[in-house]
Amino acid sequence: MSKVHAVITGVGGYVPKYVLNNAEISTLVDTSDEWITKRIGVKERRILKPDEGKGITYLAEKALENLKIKKDFDPLEIEAVVFATSTPDYILPNAASLIAYRAGMTKAFGFDLGAACSGFVYALEVGQAFIASGKYKKVMVFSGDTLSVVTDYQDRNTCPIFADGCGVVLLEATTDEEIGILDGILHSDGNSLESLHMWGGGSVNPADHETVNQRMHFIRQDGKVVFKRAVTEMSDACETIMKRNNLSKDDVKWVVPHQANMRIIDAVADRLDVPMEKVMVNIEKYGNSSAGTIPLCLWEWEHKLHKGDKIILTAFGAGFTWGATYLKWGYDPT
Ligand code: UT7
Repeated sequence: MSKVHAVITGVGGYVPKYVLNNAEISTLVDTSDEWITKRIGVKERRILKPDEGKGITYLAEKALENLKIKKDFDPLEIEAVVFATSTPDYILPNAASLIAYRAGMTKAFGFDLGAACSGFVYALEVGQAFIASGKYKKVMVFSGDTLSVVTDYQDRNTCPIFADGCGVVLLEATTDEEIGILDGILHSDGNSLESLHMWGGGSVNPADHETVNQRMHFIRQDGKVVFKRAVTEMSDACETIMKRNNLSKDDVKWVVPHQANMRIIDAVADRLDVPMEKVMVNIEKYGNSSAGTIPLCLWEWEHKLHKGDKIILTAFGAGFTWGATYLKWGYDPT
């Protein structure tokens, strides 16, 4: 008998209404539409403004509403809620418990997963392991961030890149090997703290006047270091997962990379020798919403995905964390 594993049976997504374009960014820091377009590939990004809503669970609720339009499920049947985010509503309680309650998933346990931009591939591995254990049959995975709350709009190294957005996927048990999550690779390297971090607000530098005055509650990065590692690690993770699943580049229907910089995406596609027509890219309009980028691509491309399509996801982020997922899409477009 085939082994039980997880399959994505529904996807939803949401980006906030406010469009922060490069012209507006250029009024905040010394940059230009031309520089951002050429060096990052972002034209505009979405930002959650308080007059629309507050917190990542606001975006999660909207993403779930979008999933529900397409996929019928009983919230009481959801057994676990995994929420990949670095920007929960509060340090405690976790965002997963809040969204589970608000969505009527009251039989589920919920927890947040911190893996920065790699959150979605991490959460899929966790959800897949829960289901493969045989103990759980339905797991809801949310993945997204409101990076605008930790972005310094005086720092041109970061503010043109970061954005807000959230996706959600429903994972269900299957024994059909022609669909589902078939493999995953995860890595982390904690020796990279200096390269990508937010110093304030944790247990080393809890919030006080000093941390606020020193602008420690914003993400800082050494862009060049992050850039190089991201290209190497995402390419290597994809190559490894393809090799050990006997996948040629022609077998793969779609590559879905984390959307951090168009030049990183181009370089990964180049190393894998995969044509850009097979690579999902929406960075130009949504920027980098951290854990949100990959599910937002799946959400946007859902109508083009067919049952059995072989898809490689890959991400890289703070930690450093990185990884890749190999899955076969679970359903045809409706
Ligand atoms: O998902 C989270 C992880 N983050 C990432 O994956 C980000 C990875 N890194 C990057 O995307 C890029 O490194 C950045 C977009 C952050 C920077 O691009 P870069 O091509 O690496 O620029 P650079 O730091 O090498 O700077 C090149 C030049 C410098 O000027 P000089 O010294 O050559 O005169 C910078 O001062 O570009 C300048 N510069 C800018 N100019 C206009 C840097 N940022 C900007 C800017 N606008 N926003």
